[in-house]
Amino acid sequence: HWGLQTKWLGKEVVHKHRVPSTQTVAHQQALNGSSHGTVVIADQQTKGKGRLNRKWYSENDDGVWMSVVLRPNIPPNQAPQLTLLAATVLANVLTKLKIPEVGIKWPNDILIGDKKVAGILTEMQAEHDQIHYLVLGIGLNVNQSSDTFPDEVKDIATSLKLASNQSYSIRQLIQDILFEFEKSYDVYMSDGFTSIKQNWERFGYKMGEKVAINSGNRTWTATLHGIEADGSLLVSNDDGSHERLYSAEINWKGG
Ligand code: BTN
Repeated sequence: HWGLQTKWLGKEVVHKHRVPSTQTVAHQQALNGSSHGTVVIADQQTKGKGRLNRKWYSENDDGVWMSVVLRPNIPPNQAPQLTLLAATVLANVLTKLKIPEVGIKWPNDILIGDKKVAGILTEMQAEHDQIHYLVLGIGLNVNQSSDTFPDEVKDIATSLKLASNQSYSIRQLIQDILFEFEKSYDVYMSDGFTSIKQNWERFGYKMGEKVAINSGNRTWTATLHGIEADGSLLVSNDDGSHERLYSAEINWKGG
């Protein structure tokens, strides 16, 4: 009843009204042998998880909260490419909906203007240098109004509705995202990382611009250049040196 137009993605859909996190459900599915492309969708999450152990607000039926089980035949060190791929898929879907100013802030925050509208959380189970499975979680804020967001994220979060003054069907968005995801995934598996790189950089937030960067206890300014095959961010520092960043925060307001 999800009306999916996909070939393999979402052949099995597990739908829950309210769960702590679709990530946890997807891990259980995967451990119980669920196949590549299984999708877990929830209307509400009571303990939505973001990257770096952050909380992801998803208590209401006003967003896309879903996790996909993937069993890709790639080495574990290429797994970050799938996260970048998911980010480009979301950016493409939003752009097709005529949402203005869509960007991707490295590594994988989807922005509208300077505010975050979606995020991706990828968790991998690997053994003996092989991916056992991967759970790729997508959270997209859809129908929230400004007073729905809790105070701590009000200034940094947005939704499709806030950006466009219109409401969206969650089910339709899930169809669109899964359709585009399958297409891009299949292209990636045949053509490799370059198919993602170009697309990602097209949406790359502040690409070619100088921003403030924070990594560990270091804060400095650098120019953003692009992404590398290992998922890192290539920057050039003011002294002309180049650097690949594996974990860093780009200043929210762009420095
Ligand atoms: C981030 O930007 O930090 C990642 C946010 C990921 C949120 C999604 S919502 C569906 C899935 N279930 C979770 O608990 N988290 C991801």
